Amino acid sequence: MKTLLFVSHAISENTRHLEQSALRGIDIHRGDVTLIAKPARDVIAADILSCTGILIATTENIGYMAGLTKDMFDRTYNDLLGKTDGLPAAFYIRAGLDGTATNHALTAIANGLNWRLVQPPLILKGAYDTAFENDVYHLSASLVAGLDAGIF
Ligand SMILES: Cc1cc2nc3c(=O)[nH]c(=O)nc-3n(C[C@H](O)[C@H](O)[C@H](O)COP(=O)(O)O)c2cc1C
Repeated sequence: MKTLLFVSHAISENTRHLEQSALRGIDIHRGDVTLIAKPARDVIAADILSCTGILIATTENIGYMAGLTKDMFDRTYNDLLGKTDGLPAAFYIRAGLDGTATNHALTAIANGLNWRLVQPPLILKGAYDTAFENDVYHLSASLVAGLDAGIF
């Protein structure tokens, strides 16, 4: 059984809209892939060890990924090392101002764990634009469709 783990940190109306767009994209294109959606604070290492692919959604706050997203990695990183090599991954960052630091940090973590970023990082920067929802829809749909087709 293939599973997509969607780790979401949605703390505002806008980020909940993005989350809903991701869920729509996954639902419509998931084929035989099972979705497991969890807020970052509830994710444990076993969730990541057992998934076929991972989608991470975070905000950028005070120049870094959201604390609860970082906390997930703090709690799981050592248990994942060497055991999730090649895991297909994608992420999107809602950043009111910038997003660069979060992108660098998430990319470094993904590289450290030897994950495979199968979509370019999506940074949703600046004033909220409903077009972001379409971007998130397509990112999520591409990831899950690729998992379903066995491309990733
Ligand atoms: C305390 C605080 C710190 C923030 N720091 C950053 C930051 O360092 N970089 C950035 O791009 N956005 C920053 N933001 C904006 C958030 O990324 C943005 O508010 C969040 O992603 C939710 O999006 P929304 O405001 O469209 O709902 C900050 C917001 C708050 C409240």
